[in-house]
Amino acid sequence: MAAGKGTRLKSKHPKVLHEVGGKPLLAHVIAAATQVVPAQDVYAIVGHEADLVQQAVAQTGINFILQREQRGTGHALMVARDALAPYDQVIVLSGDAPLIRAQTIQKLRDFHGSQQPAMTILAAQLHDPTGYGRVIRNKKNSPDVKAIVEEKSATPAQRKIQEINSGFYEFDAKVLLAHIDELTNDNPHGEFYLTDMAAILRKAKQRVMAVAANDPHEILGSNTRAEMVDIDQRMRVAKCRQLMADGVTIFYPQTCVIDSDVEIGPDTTVEPFVQILGKTRIGSECRIRSYSVINNSLIGDGVLIRPGCILDQAHVMKGAMLGPYTHLRPGTEIGEGAHVGNFVETKKTRLGKGSKANHLTYLGDADIGAGVNIGAGTITCNYDGEHKHTTVIEDSVFVGSDSTLVAPVKIGKGAYIGAASCITDDVPPDSLALGRARQIVKEGWTKARRASQRKPE
Ligand code: UD1
Ligand code: CA
Repeated sequence: MAAGKGTRLKSKHPKVLHEVGGKPLLAHVIAAATQVVPAQDVYAIVGHEADLVQQAVAQTGINFILQREQRGTGHALMVARDALAPYDQVIVLSGDAPLIRAQTIQKLRDFHGSQQPAMTILAAQLHDPTGYGRVIRNKKNSPDVKAIVEEKSATPAQRKIQEINSGFYEFDAKVLLAHIDELTNDNPHGEFYLTDMAAILRKAKQRVMAVAANDPHEILGSNTRAEMVDIDQRMRVAKCRQLMADGVTIFYPQTCVIDSDVEIGPDTTVEPFVQILGKTRIGSECRIRSYSVINNSLIGDGVLIRPGCILDQAHVMKGAMLGPYTHLRPGTEIGEGAHVGNFVETKKTRLGKGSKANHLTYLGDADIGAGVNIGAGTITCNYDGEHKHTTVIEDSVFVGSDSTLVAPVKIGKGAYIGAASCITDDVPPDSLALGRARQIVKEGWTKARRASQRKPE
């Protein structure tokens, strides 16, 4: 169920597209679901901003059902009637509860399969059950459930019940569909509550049961910004713990922001206040020093990233060293053992094996070979105001400090560019190019000036 607007978030964006752990709420739930059943048997009920929601998770290969008007969780399943008809069992998941794990859905499924009631509720004991529907057992400690009561309709005594409804269920699909039209919207919200199915089925002499989630936190829903931040934190702490269990050292993990899909190899160390985002993959034996932000990048083994580097869609090969304060923009490829240093910015640029660009440089749309030295302050002038042009620098070139390379331009293999040159024409291999005004020295000039300016006593 992913059709709701998420009124409590006070957002113009649909609730299930808000992100925790670096990806949409709904994407987490789909990932868990598709570990239990094949994607072609998973249906997302979408409604509010349906197109956006559908687009965001389309690549998962699941199906979509449109709930044009969102008239409650029960109504969501009424809309799904035709899709559900061919199935014997249906598992219902809440699109806004992203901590759910595949093992827990499997536990619900195993319990339901062995007990075969008409409805199984995934329940949890919460220290603070406020806001959740409460599970009303038939008798104390009975495995059977009489009803679910929503917070708003609960009596003070019922509000004290700490066993809550997670919003995840398994139903016998035939029995559900036979009784779903008995739902009414006679409640404080004027909505069709799926939770009312418990009492309806019970009255129809069907069995309704509840099974507890192993970790009660797994079922937490994100209805408010505060709940969402809480879930995000839980998810990131769990991610750090998983990485540590897999051999990664993370100092002060509570200061690091590591997205769910990030992969890091063993013996890599992550220092405090680092962000590793998106689908970033980092090899083993790397060190990521403080204040670096790495997004959707691929980093080989043994790479050193000094403090304050920003990487976005970059590829850094093994043994390279970056920073401090290197900015690698999309389409950057840093070769094996290369060095990129302080205040160097790159974009759509390949820097070959063992090449160096250590200080204060901009390299954009450049193809740079192996063993090249890029002097401090070098700039590729890639933009003429209308188009971007390429700079080619072949192997073993030496570019002197403060050079400007006006693209399109090509520097041949082994050539040498004198410092402070402005290079506008191609430089053939093995040659020296100088593109600067010749220095003039006027000896004794200042002494003469001082003499002419001296005032008479
Ligand atoms: C629901 C349960 C509550 C339970 C809680 C667990 C009901 C009536 N209440 O409350 O007992 O403790 O989940 O988190 O079900 N949705 C639709 N179409 C709609 C309405 C909602 O698809 O017309 C979707 C929402 O996008 C959301 C999910 O259903 O993903 C749950 O809806 P929400 O409004 O968040 O229900 P809760 O108030 O949390
Ligand atoms: Ca909810």
